[in-house]
Amino acid sequence: MLLRCWLALLVALIPAALSTNPGVKVKLTEKGIEYGKLLGMAALQTRLKSIKVPDISGSQSVSPIGKVQYSLTNMQITNIGLPKSEVDLVPGSAVKLSIGDAYISLNGHWRVKYLRFIKDSGSFDLNVNGLTITTGIAIKSDETGRPAVSSVNCAATVGSAKIKFHGGASWLYNLFEKFVDKALRNALQKQICPLVADAVSDLNPHLKTLNVLAKVDQYAEIEYSMVSSPIISNSSIDLSLKGEFYNIGRHQEPPFSPKDFSLPPQINNMLYIGMSVFTANSAAFVYDKAGALSLYITDDMIPKGSPFRLNTRTFGVFIPQIAQKFPGLMMKLLVKTVKNPIITFEPNNVTIQATATVTAYAIQPNSTLSPLFVLNLETSVSANVFVSGMRLAGSVTLNKMNLTLGTSYVGQFQVRSLDNMLQMLLKVVVIPKLNVQLGKGYPLPTIGKMKLVNSQLQVLKDYMLIGTDVQFTG
Ligand SMILES: *[C@@H]1O[C@H](CO)[C@@H](O)[C@H](O)[C@H]1NC(C)=O
Ligand SMILES: *[C@@H]1O[C@H](CO)[C@@H](O)[C@H](O)[C@H]1NC(C)=O
Ligand SMILES: *[C@@H]1O[C@H](CO)[C@@H](O)[C@H](O)[C@H]1NC(C)=O
Ligand SMILES: *[C@@H]1O[C@H](CO)[C@@H](O)[C@H](O)[C@H]1NC(C)=O
Repeated sequence: MLLRCWLALLVALIPAALSTNPGVKVKLTEKGIEYGKLLGMAALQTRLKSIKVPDISGSQSVSPIGKVQYSLTNMQITNIGLPKSEVDLVPGSAVKLSIGDAYISLNGHWRVKYLRFIKDSGSFDLNVNGLTITTGIAIKSDETGRPAVSSVNCAATVGSAKIKFHGGASWLYNLFEKFVDKALRNALQKQICPLVADAVSDLNPHLKTLNVLAKVDQYAEIEYSMVSSPIISNSSIDLSLKGEFYNIGRHQEPPFSPKDFSLPPQINNMLYIGMSVFTANSAAFVYDKAGALSLYITDDMIPKGSPFRLNTRTFGVFIPQIAQKFPGLMMKLLVKTVKNPIITFEPNNVTIQATATVTAYAIQPNSTLSPLFVLNLETSVSANVFVSGMRLAGSVTLNKMNLTLGTSYVGQFQVRSLDNMLQMLLKVVVIPKLNVQLGKGYPLPTIGKMKLVNSQLQVLKDYMLIGTDVQFTG
């Protein structure tokens, strides 16, 4: 009965276990959005320069001369200014971009024909002032879990157009001004919003470079796809990423899942990346499952000056049976985790606890390995974690270890007598090897040629927080 209740409870809990709490959270602050705007405005300006103003022509009756045929051709944009722009976050929906006081300068050719045979022509300069553009930029998650943006509710209004003719009679100016003003406003107004939409869509190829599946090494990759749509609040854009290590090509879920966590409301940096302890533990799970957390220790790995050697003579000092039964042989140890190490994040403290076995062998002259004993090893190491380039790297030092006997093939002996030897092996062989791996680092979520500057890392309860500014190059 109790068992059945327990099973029912487990079943009820399954949806929670499959929940999509993110392993990694990314917060883009107003400072980051300002920097993004700076880059975006340059792109928008380039886009708007491609405005093509169509030729304008027609005929108009002007008293007292009668019908005048006119045309304005070859209109080219010579300058475009977007001096005032502002981005505002509209909580829950979009980023709003407002551009005011923008101007466009053009030049072109004018031509008229009247009284059947009189022709006149010249050039003109035109300044369009008081241009305003407002658009919403909606951010969604695309089908690959990358962010995608689009322009919504764009509106453009053109203030006034001032034309200056070179050559020709002044009555012509009056004639043209009205037509030019209206025709140009229409032409510009029609083209601006589609170009703004293009400029916004231009961001998508960059956003598509988000490393949703970042390769780490031959064993692991990290998934950084978005697990839900971005959340826009009044001070930041928050992304929830999966942040989970997987075996390459074989995505097996670990028997634990991410707990929800929220980033503190910090604003000094452009970007904050919160990496949960879940992400770290999913790495430990993957490497353990892949059999990567095992190491054969042989005598050549021990520094030459050390009095401890991996042979039956040295071990015979502590366990005389070994020297008696296997005289004059070299030895080999296999250190291997027996379950995935557990990583904990406490404020300013990253600790990894690992349970392993140490199997000792004597190496027979014919290379056969004769097992001598198996020890159970519990270790706790402290990690120092840091940002290195676009990667998160670390190094560990030994806190403590506890040895107990698993199996002996050589009779009774005092396990404690091997403590110093094992501690030495951990410090000079195992941990340095591990640190070489940890030093190579693990890729952080990144977009295009992004560089992190002024980054700092803090370890907090159950997650670590990287605050950083970014720079895009090229
Ligand atoms: C932003 O939102 C938070 C919480 O939703 C609220 O406490 C704060 O007053 C808001 N700030 C502004 C400037 O609206
Ligand atoms: C970190 O925490 C572990 C376990 O909670 C503890 O053994 C260790 O001494 C702590 N290290 C520091 C530097 O506080
Ligand atoms: C290797 O030598 C050991 C010890 O002399 C012996 O017990 C074992 O059978 C030998 N193995 C092979 C494959 O010859
Ligand atoms: C070492 O592990 C054994 C078995 O798990 C335990 O009984 C013992 O208390 C541990 N010793 C220390 C110092 O933690």
